[in-house]
Amino acid sequence: MPVPVILDCDPGHDDAFNIMLAAAHPRIELLGITTVAGNQTVEKTTLNARRVCTAAGVRGVPIAAGMAEPLRGPGIVAPDIHGESGLDGPEFGEPDVPVDGRDAVTFLRDTLRAHPEPVTLVPTGPLTNIAAFLLAHPELADRIERIVLMGGSTERGNRTPAAEFNILADPEAADVVFRSGLHLTMIGLNVSHRALATPDVVARVKALGTPLAEMSAALLTYFGDTYREVFGFPAPPLHDPLTVAHIAAPDLLTLVHVPVAVELTGTHTRGATVVDLDGVTGAAPNAHVAVDVDVPAYWDLIVDAVRTLGRPAPTGGGLSR
Ligand code: BDR
Ligand code: CA
Repeated sequence: MPVPVILDCDPGHDDAFNIMLAAAHPRIELLGITTVAGNQTVEKTTLNARRVCTAAGVRGVPIAAGMAEPLRGPGIVAPDIHGESGLDGPEFGEPDVPVDGRDAVTFLRDTLRAHPEPVTLVPTGPLTNIAAFLLAHPELADRIERIVLMGGSTERGNRTPAAEFNILADPEAADVVFRSGLHLTMIGLNVSHRALATPDVVARVKALGTPLAEMSAALLTYFGDTYREVFGFPAPPLHDPLTVAHIAAPDLLTLVHVPVAVELTGTHTRGATVVDLDGVTGAAPNAHVAVDVDVPAYWDLIVDAVRTLGRPAPTGGGLSR
């Protein structure tokens, strides 16, 4: 049975590949996509989710727009990494998939109530929507199977020396999620920085030879350029699809069950995930934290997703699913 999943995202180059992987993989049932302000404003991330679904022929998956601001304080965006559109690089036409009339919290409420089985939530942006939902609907917590998120790190950050972008963008929301008592999996920079889309990966994608492959290669190329300029990386880390990849292929990641706290008040460390790998705090474990990844297997999943979605329709009439 495929795993029912809702993606909560801020596309974003790596979020875009997560949408494709979730739509393509037979072990995933994609129930919907909610968007949040993060890499860009929520208007832009919502448009980008529609652009990706249109390009990938993902039809009939609801896209609901979420929170425009963090729970407290002003938001941050990442044009230095993802461009002014949030998805710079490829040329996109007018999207032909609609936005759901409901906001993200209402969409989550309706979907979790209606689905016969508990649903897995997959946040790959700031945790604002998820925290807002948990605060508004504690009665639906048992309709959540687990949360598999990209964010944080067991080591250093990227947006500050201590904090990773998704957690720094809304530390109060992250705190709600990490203290929720729900089954939580955290996939952070300590692992995603090993998943670099090296030139051979980009060449494999390009070699698929479809319009979707071209778009995907353009995304990786743009992402590679900004990661080189901003961080001096040799190739871009494809953070977010590690979440769906882990659900689809549970052996892909090595996890440890440990206590994780979110720093809310540090002078230089706000937004850091404090991961007690050695059990020195004596706190109860609250998160399954990724510490290793099978990188070749990961790229096979990504390339397969682009191949699957990019297949010309049997009638030759364009992409449709
Ligand atoms: C995270 O921040 C965003 O820029 C990426 O989409 C990813 O979710 C990495 O720190
Ligand atoms: Ca993201």
